[in-house]
Amino acid sequence: MAITVCLAGATGWAGSELARGIAKSADLELVAAVARRQAGQLLGDALGVPALTARIHATAADALAEPCDVFLEYTKPASAKANILAALERGVHVVVGTSGLTEADYAQIDEAARARQRGVLACGNFALTVVLLQKFAETAARLIPQWEIIDYAHDDKVDVPSGTARELAFRLSKVRAPQPTVPVERAVGPRETRGASVSGTQVHSIRLPGYVIGAEIVFGMPDQRLTIRHDSGGSARPYVDGALLAIRKVSTLVGVHRGLDAVLGL
Ligand SMILES: NC(=O)c1ccc[n+]([C@@H]2O[C@H](COP(=O)([O-])OP(=O)(O)OC[C@H]3O[C@@H](n4cnc5c(N)ncnc54)[C@H](OP(=O)(O)O)[C@@H]3O)[C@@H](O)[C@H]2O)c1
Repeated sequence: MAITVCLAGATGWAGSELARGIAKSADLELVAAVARRQAGQLLGDALGVPALTARIHATAADALAEPCDVFLEYTKPASAKANILAALERGVHVVVGTSGLTEADYAQIDEAARARQRGVLACGNFALTVVLLQKFAETAARLIPQWEIIDYAHDDKVDVPSGTARELAFRLSKVRAPQPTVPVERAVGPRETRGASVSGTQVHSIRLPGYVIGAEIVFGMPDQRLTIRHDSGGSARPYVDGALLAIRKVSTLVGVHRGLDAVLGL
């Protein structure tokens, strides 16, 4: 039996590449899609992939009228939480690719997921190099008490910091709090230059043309420095394999789990 999927954001940059990946996966079946501008069309017509026979709906609520096993959220921060809660309300497992949700949002989603005994796998970045950056950084944070994150993205990315940076900061907060020599509150001069505190880590978001998506974490100790950096290119291909894996595995989870390593066995 194929795992049936509803894909929200199926016509977007990331969602359309994933839809093509699902079309090539014999064990997955795309049964409904969400996007406003091409609502009413078949996804295959919109993307030029005849194998995709799912219809596009303007809202997640309409798309979820079609029974499915997994809802994949790939729209925008403003619509993501309501879509996720609507899917959980219907008893559907959820994979979240959309960035911009806060810790408070995830706490609310976790409550809804546990009440329904459903899994939510939220991955700020599905790329394997990001999963590895997260694991290496967690190891480094156990040994090095000071670090900061730099988040690089294209100039028209609206949400700050990136989902990747937010998730990394959250994960490091579970290791320990960084111990800056001069706490930000004691900085002299404009404190904004020290970045924003995200889950206890100082994060600096750069938004400029010429960048795609990158994340860098710098660990410092006297006379030594460690930099771990991920960069992705211009295509959405790095995210497809991770998202397909998340779709296949999310039904093994209950409640919110952050990061692809939750199902990678790392
Ligand atoms: N986790 C990861 O690895 C990863 C990778 C890439 C991107 N992302 C994140 O994924 C999200 C989407 O990125 P993207 O670059 O693919 O964006 P995009 O190209 O703008 O695509 C957004 C998609 O969502 C639909 N959409 C937007 N708002 C909607 C709404 N209110 N109701 C219904 N459909 C809506 C759009 O169609 P209409 O405009 O026609 O409605 C479109 O299909 C962002 O948050 C991005 O940061 C995450």
